[in-house]
Amino acid sequence: MCGIVGYIGNNDSKEILLKGLEKLEYRGYDSAGIAVKNEDGVHVFKAKGRIAELRGIVDENVFAEAGIGHTRWATHGVPSKVNSHPHQSESGRFTLVHNGVIENYDLLKREYLADVHFQSETDTEVIVQLVEKFAREGLSTLEAFRKTLKLLHGSYALALLDAEDNETIYVAKNKSPLLVGVGDSFNVVASDAMAMLQVTNQFVELMDKEIVIVTKNEVTIQTLDGVAISRAPFTAELDASDIEKGTYPHYMLKEIDEQPAVLRKIIQAYQNEQGQLEIDADIIDAVKNSDRIYIIAAGTSYHAGLVGKQFIEKVAKVPVEVHISSEFGYNMPLLSEKPLFIFISQSGETADSRAVLVQVKEMGYPALTITNVPGSTLSREADHTLLLYAGPEIAVASTKAYTAQLAVLAILAEVTAKSRGLEVNFDLTHELGLVANAMEVLCDSKEMIEVMAREFLSVTRNAFFIGRGIDFYVGLEGALKLKEISYIQAEGFAGGELKHGTIALIEEGTPVIALATQESVNLSIRGNVKEVVSRGANPCIISMEGLNMDEDSFVIPEVHDLLTPLISVIPLQLLAYYAALHRDCDVDKPRNLAKSVTVE
Ligand code: M6R
Repeated sequence: MCGIVGYIGNNDSKEILLKGLEKLEYRGYDSAGIAVKNEDGVHVFKAKGRIAELRGIVDENVFAEAGIGHTRWATHGVPSKVNSHPHQSESGRFTLVHNGVIENYDLLKREYLADVHFQSETDTEVIVQLVEKFAREGLSTLEAFRKTLKLLHGSYALALLDAEDNETIYVAKNKSPLLVGVGDSFNVVASDAMAMLQVTNQFVELMDKEIVIVTKNEVTIQTLDGVAISRAPFTAELDASDIEKGTYPHYMLKEIDEQPAVLRKIIQAYQNEQGQLEIDADIIDAVKNSDRIYIIAAGTSYHAGLVGKQFIEKVAKVPVEVHISSEFGYNMPLLSEKPLFIFISQSGETADSRAVLVQVKEMGYPALTITNVPGSTLSREADHTLLLYAGPEIAVASTKAYTAQLAVLAILAEVTAKSRGLEVNFDLTHELGLVANAMEVLCDSKEMIEVMAREFLSVTRNAFFIGRGIDFYVGLEGALKLKEISYIQAEGFAGGELKHGTIALIEEGTPVIALATQESVNLSIRGNVKEVVSRGANPCIISMEGLNMDEDSFVIPEVHDLLTPLISVIPLQLLAYYAALHRDCDVDKPRNLAKSVTVE
């Protein structure tokens, strides 16, 4: 989704801004721009497409000690140079970058700006034109900015330059993430700390409806009513090398390979000195005190929630419902008497999930966020947080975060069960260790999976994933991975549902990827494979050692049957990766997608 950077200091801002935008490329965007300011005025450079195009048009001879930059993921108005940010007010005095969506922009345009000539189709331009209108009426820039912010409905992270003031970047946020980074004789602005790790790891968190005046030596935070706020910076615990690809051709492949190490890190992080798995007593009490858990999530995190439900219900014996966050607001089920809400989100910034969190907090219910990003919005706003320890996930397609989510949910289920005095007849630490070993075996089987991707997916228009029980949920994730990066129409189905409609889609050669990791349904899923094969399908059976048969294409090592999703997903991730590669797709930055979906 859109990204923001800003710099004010003694160095030339251009390169810092461009490098910062490159660090945000993974979030998905379709145009980019920077505006830099010096004694000659504000210089704006914008381009549709990649940062490389932008680099090509930036005038190297302009030296400017302050500037702002943006990567845009189109919402209002097509991806184009004119709709890309920064946007300028009619006279060119004010220049603005914006992440988020202004819901009442049309109303504001009609009510306040009827005589203004707009350049773009964006909601953002309304903001910058309003600032100019109020400044023309005699307000200072800060007052004009503040008055504008009070009129906005919706989400925003903003950075504003005033051509008449070389000393300041004005910043504000509501619902969209934004940080101010602090340094020695310089300060920076970033929608994601990663963008500015190149110059600092000290960041000040901003809260909704705050205004920040950033100069090279000072960061002044105020409420919208001008009340001063003091807040100490925190250290971003990120290593710049975590966000490099190293020798890998793609982040996705690197992140797939990181899964065994991430799992081992999770085991360590949740182990106490006696080697027992442990979770904060407050969190376990919250689970024990609830009569039903509601898991809220989107995309891959939703799929992790479906598997997590199995863990929690089977091991901890607490009933669980899993809901898609974007639906929950209007499709809220009848809630139990003592619900606990669990939000699963890699980024901790997904706007659809955050909207539900705000809603349930208003209703007075407790909430736990399971996220990869400490300090993210969902983490800050929930009562409790469990971290994934997966390290930055850069590829748009989520891989290591999914398996990390499953591991943390399994640990939550086990610790809850034990603290409820329930018998757990397996040693989860040991079983997860075996899973990590099995993951390594799978990561070493890339050549075989590449061949499978050629055989099954290189020319097809569509593909189906089938499974029963827990395998069905992994099939949903496999289908999402494949469609989002290879653009093959892919769907996951419960094996038994095929004959209720989907089987009509099977044609000669249609790939059907079947998961067979569960003994209790092994014969049934194989029966489903026979049904599709007799209608012409090209079957690819992925089974587990001990349940495998001659016709299987790939066999995963044997692990505890509840934990199979942690490893059966790996061949599916790799299949998607190689299918995308064979089709010449941009694996890490698939079209139309953003890493973190910060608009509803
Ligand atoms: O950051 P989140 O986990 O909340 O993101 C949710 C989805 O947007 C995300 O999982 C998305 O589906 C991925 N691109 C899937 O690979």
